[in-house]
Amino acid sequence: MPRIPEETIQQVLAATDIVDLVGRYVKLRRMGSLFKGLCPFHTERTPSFTVSQSRGTYHCFGCGAGGSAIRFVMEHDGMSFVEAVKRLGDAAGIRIEEEVWDANAEAAAKTRALLLRVHQDIASWYHALLMKHRMADEARQYLKSRGMTAEVAKSWKLGYAPPSGEMLREWAAGKGYAEGVLIDAGILGAGDPDSGRPGTYPRFRHRLMFPIRNDQGEVIAFTARILRADQHPAKYVNSPETMLFTKSKVLFGFDRSKRAIAKAGQAVIVEGQIDMMTVFDSGIENVVASQGTAFTEFHARMLKRHADEVVLCFDADNAGINAAGKAFHTLAPTGLIVKCVALPKGDDPDSLIRTQGPGAFAEIIKSAREFIDFQVEHAATRRNLNEMRERVRFADEMAASIRLLDSPVARETAIQRVAVRLGLPEETYRRQVLRDFNPQAQKASATTTPTMKTSDGRQLLVSQDKTALLLCRLAFSNAEVLHWLRQTRREDILDDLPGASMLALLWRSQCDPADPTSTSVFLASLEPAEESAFAGLLAQPAPPGGIEEAGHALDALETARLHALIQRAQTQLKQPGLTPEEDASLHQRIIAWRKEYLDRRKRDPDTR
Ligand code: CTP
Ligand code: MN
Repeated sequence: MPRIPEETIQQVLAATDIVDLVGRYVKLRRMGSLFKGLCPFHTERTPSFTVSQSRGTYHCFGCGAGGSAIRFVMEHDGMSFVEAVKRLGDAAGIRIEEEVWDANAEAAAKTRALLLRVHQDIASWYHALLMKHRMADEARQYLKSRGMTAEVAKSWKLGYAPPSGEMLREWAAGKGYAEGVLIDAGILGAGDPDSGRPGTYPRFRHRLMFPIRNDQGEVIAFTARILRADQHPAKYVNSPETMLFTKSKVLFGFDRSKRAIAKAGQAVIVEGQIDMMTVFDSGIENVVASQGTAFTEFHARMLKRHADEVVLCFDADNAGINAAGKAFHTLAPTGLIVKCVALPKGDDPDSLIRTQGPGAFAEIIKSAREFIDFQVEHAATRRNLNEMRERVRFADEMAASIRLLDSPVARETAIQRVAVRLGLPEETYRRQVLRDFNPQAQKASATTTPTMKTSDGRQLLVSQDKTALLLCRLAFSNAEVLHWLRQTRREDILDDLPGASMLALLWRSQCDPADPTSTSVFLASLEPAEESAFAGLLAQPAPPGGIEEAGHALDALETARLHALIQRAQTQLKQPGLTPEEDASLHQRIIAWRKEYLDRRKRDPDTR
């Protein structure tokens, strides 16, 4: 995809006077260091729309709209990012070249292109072997045994990887691919896994090959299934992470289903590749496969860009519900409505469609229920809600889930339902749920009726952990603090903390808060909701404090993280089917974390 180089964006933003730009559409009056006017994004009589000339940003206190000059053009004139940059570039006399590569970028682009070609070629080769070669008899037999026709194999370009390396080497020689390229592509691994001897070996042997594709439909990796249940320990072997393939960023089948997903506003999420193929081919095309991995924030955003709602299909057992819980944790904060269905015991979408037909599966999807309701049911039937301890646990568990919900309406509804279950006045339970919320931001979003886009920015602010947000504000208003933060090298805490996404964005960015252009470039790199949330921070007075306060906040986050880790491990301990080793290791970790936690509390009793 052509990209505008970051330097160009920098130049354009530095050359744009945002007061000039906005002033063409909005009558602005100077008020101290800011300009004020009537917001062009919502109707109002008293001005709450502000523009900061020095920072190059705008923010509306009424509806929450905000961002850089680029965002203003995008939202005001309904342009794409590239169009908006071009328009501003034209006005400033800067030529926008979409593809200006430096030497490194050029080399990287070449390697990428080569790896893509290897993947495409080898996928065709595997496919030809599967369709025709005598050697692939067993693989074809296997396909047949699972009810997959030649059309299915063609449509998904399934393949067969031969058992030995010889054929692969011959093929590569014929194509002129050097060994190093195949290693970079993950087709060859280093060291023979059987003999342990050095050298290279083909990663996929005597397996059914499923090409994994990126958004554009290019093959970037493979997942490979064994043909018999008893052959090898691993049922599936996947490509390693390569220059082309980052597992946490790919959803299997999304290249084919994203249109149907956008059209339906809903994505059905299954676990396996075969499930994806069977569901898609049965006519339910708004489906993707998570490929057995945990959902990442990246996946969540990918889905949120196309849909409002996801339906998770999972096994009816405890492991299934735990997996759905984890997915909910990642998906809900983006504003996606997370629904789920429990499949009949022992079935997955593939087997269900094969035995009962697509209609039965479609009915099940239609009957999907919101995850929170599901969780209430599940927890309420498992627990004796007459017992105090169980009531408290249930209330805590549900409060944690409810806080993740992005929409205030969804939160309120869930609060009501749980309160009914507990036979408590709603208000009592509401207080517990909202205890850890930022009341200020909460109030702001309750008293106005913001437009869609901007409400997302507010919701994002509300969803942030209070301490994480404070640290984020300190760092965003004080370059020294951000610099200090980055050199602490403690950003690993971000991954275990809910509600730290804004802090993480800032921390991991190159933003220099002392430099307005750099700040605008940072804003321009964000999603709309994030951009408006950060522009909102800029419009607030800087919080008092410097590195010392930031240090306290970071310590408090570290303590909160230990707390979260301990809780998570304790939940894991309750799962059935842990081996004694896993159980012992979890206990050990809990003991170590708890000790650290108590030490910290002793040193600093104010932290959580
Ligand atoms: N998976 C994996 N590695 C494994 C096992 C599973 O990557 N060793 C992933 C695969 O993406 C797989 C998914 O987890 O599709 C779900 O696993 P499972 O339910 O065991 O497999 P199915 O999809 O049902 O595969 P099949 O129907 O071929 O048995
Ligand atoms: Mn299956």
